[in-house]
Amino acid sequence: MTRLYLSPPDVGAIERALVAEAFDSNWVAPLGPHVEAFERELAERCGVAACGALSSGTAAVHLALLLSGVGPGDEVLCSTLTFAASVNPVRYVGGTPVFIDADRASWNLDPDLLESELEGREKRGRPAKAVVAVDLYGQCADYGRIEELCERHDVVLIEDAAEALGSTAFGRPAGSFGRLGVLSFNGNKIVTTGGGGALVSDDAEAIARARFLSTQARDPAPHYEHSQIGFNYRLSNILAAIGRGQLQTLDRRVEARRANFTRYVAGLGDLPGIEFMPEARYGVSNRWLTTLTIDPDAFGATREDVRLALEADDIESRPLWKPMHLQPVYAGCRVVGGSVAESLFDRGLCLPSGSSLTPAQHERVVAIIRGVHRA
Ligand SMILES: Cc1ncc(COP(=O)(O)O)c(C=O)c1O
Repeated sequence: MTRLYLSPPDVGAIERALVAEAFDSNWVAPLGPHVEAFERELAERCGVAACGALSSGTAAVHLALLLSGVGPGDEVLCSTLTFAASVNPVRYVGGTPVFIDADRASWNLDPDLLESELEGREKRGRPAKAVVAVDLYGQCADYGRIEELCERHDVVLIEDAAEALGSTAFGRPAGSFGRLGVLSFNGNKIVTTGGGGALVSDDAEAIARARFLSTQARDPAPHYEHSQIGFNYRLSNILAAIGRGQLQTLDRRVEARRANFTRYVAGLGDLPGIEFMPEARYGVSNRWLTTLTIDPDAFGATREDVRLALEADDIESRPLWKPMHLQPVYAGCRVVGGSVAESLFDRGLCLPSGSSLTPAQHERVVAIIRGVHRA
């Protein structure tokens, strides 16, 4: 039996044909027609005016912060329950993250805590410069409230939709909330280019500036002229070709990941102490990863017992993100709340969730987890 991965790439004939086309036309070098087309198609999919294709989601977060004017000494309110790449760019620009706990209903940035933090800051005369809200495991945060709060307090909102391409909330696509949206095409994402990312926005000027900064900030001149510091953050034409192929089948990918979730619920939902990530009433998640929590008293074993049992059968699973306020690198940073994210981390597990997961593979996972419960 082969190892079962959490979220392996799922590529096929369409991607192969588009990459071959890029080779045959010799558009191998950076940029080219697939980049432009990928940007158009992504903007359309996210329901926004413009998109800049980049080398990673991390680069997109970095540029989003720069475009929002975040600089040394500025404070940025961030979801604590996320991957480090949502937050590390705050440090790249010399800022300081302030972490906000998750809510139980969506496992995303808690709007009540955000509100009290924004109000407290207003009273103290210390406004935050930006908010980075994350769409965790594909589920959009509660933008019905978060957008309104950021507008009221005049704080820039950045949506980290790295995990959420194909999801919707309040009838709008993931990526379309706030001033700038971040996408990732890392190898484990629902749409992959091997490695890549994008910035999406209704602000076409901001995206034009992101393209400029991501191609070394070259001023218009026949020679190399630079009046600002730039970055080498652009996506290549070959990788954009892969992304275009992936995007053509995004709806099928969402369906497959949602079907994984439904099958896990059918296979495990009756076990005591198991609870799946809830789906917020306001949206439809792409269910990038199926995640659940295990109450050790009710289940009779811990999350770690389950993870190790899966590992012994060569099945990859992962604890939920370790909250950023518990990370050694962010020790000493302010955190608002924190106990919800901590308990999700203690008990939470991500299960194999690829869009190519077969029913037999799914049954293998379910059988092991049921076996741990019986034992
Ligand atoms: C929430 C979140 N933000 C940002 C990133 C960074 O994206 P990338 O790996 O493309 O740099 C990822 C994934 O890797 C992510 O899950």
